[in-house]
Amino acid sequence: MDYTTLGRTGLKVSVAGLGTGGFSRLGLGTGKDEAHAIGIIHAALDLGVNLFDTAAAYGTEAVLGRALRTVPREQVVICTKAPFAVGKPDSTAASAIASLDRSLEQLGTDYIDVYQLHGIAPGAYDHALQVLAPALLREQEKGKFRHLGISETAPHDPEHLMVQRACRDGVWEVAMVSFHMMHQNARANVFPLTRRYGVGTLMMFAVRNIFSQPGRLAATMRELATDGLVPQALADDPDPLGFLVHDGGASSVIDAAYRFVRHEPGADVVLFGTGDQAHLNSNIASILKPPLPEPDRIKLARLFGHLVGVGLDAPHLSRAGMVVKG
Ligand SMILES: NC(=O)c1ccc[n+]([C@@H]2O[C@H](COP(=O)([O-])OP(=O)(O)OC[C@H]3O[C@@H](n4cnc5c(N)ncnc54)[C@H](OP(=O)(O)O)[C@@H]3O)[C@@H](O)[C@H]2O)c1
Repeated sequence: MDYTTLGRTGLKVSVAGLGTGGFSRLGLGTGKDEAHAIGIIHAALDLGVNLFDTAAAYGTEAVLGRALRTVPREQVVICTKAPFAVGKPDSTAASAIASLDRSLEQLGTDYIDVYQLHGIAPGAYDHALQVLAPALLREQEKGKFRHLGISETAPHDPEHLMVQRACRDGVWEVAMVSFHMMHQNARANVFPLTRRYGVGTLMMFAVRNIFSQPGRLAATMRELATDGLVPQALADDPDPLGFLVHDGGASSVIDAAYRFVRHEPGADVVLFGTGDQAHLNSNIASILKPPLPEPDRIKLARLFGHLVGVGLDAPHLSRAGMVVKG
């Protein structure tokens, strides 16, 4: 594993971080049981992953807590989030604090390393800054968490407007940001600011559905070509990113996707979400490989650098009917 420093938190974190939300939720989202989920977490630990991201909304805090029980607490970096629905900008400070206390209980820990507000839309940011952050910082003084962070709601904020404000406000030490091969605008809009202000970055959406679901990429390319946003030749190609896979290049489009994010200047931790042991192994291997060849990176920037908000799937309902954010 490679390790880096998470912005001004000073935390030493693995460059690959296990995301326990998304569509997989450690496999719980696709019908696997808790023993399977714990196996995924332990396999990640065995490969040197020390950063784990969860959220009150994911329903994975308790399983993460149980899986980490055997690990000395200081050896892992636990990130979780207060639920903060996009449509509910009036969430109260009291409910954020109650959620923090519940998260500590679910995780079975005395402190959280990075406590984040979850999916803050630009229109909710003033409330987050002026009402929620001061209340949470008082809880931080009591030792309930070490660092305050904030995650954007990618589908509703594809221009990263919220994070651009958050970087300058000095309160948030970590930001969770969407970035992938066909949604590259954080390079210009976000990373110069996170780097200037020492905000650590957790990267989400490296693969999501667009690069993992068969047919999704080709369908997206056809839509983009219809709108004149990518060359028609890409829409006509059943394997539109196949040019990335070659000797000396990527071994697959997913390999390319994780390497693309990993080596972007300003990207600290690449979160990957999976409920599959083989995917876990290959994703970590990809994240540890060198950058994609320069001609491929130039081509990706030329073909897709202008796109905004492609492949950012909105939250959905889990089988249990729970709203799964992130
Ligand atoms: N606003 C927010 O706060 C927010 C929003 C989004 C995400 N997040 C965080 O970021 C984390 C990462 O996002 P994500 O879960 O969407 O991760 P991701 O790594 O971008 O995509 C994961 C998806 O790709 C599949 N996949 C992963 N590796 C694969 C492989 N090698 N081959 C084929 N398919 C593969 C997974 O299915 P399998 O289970 O089959 O591998 C899953 O459906 C989340 O878990 C969450 O912690 C936060």
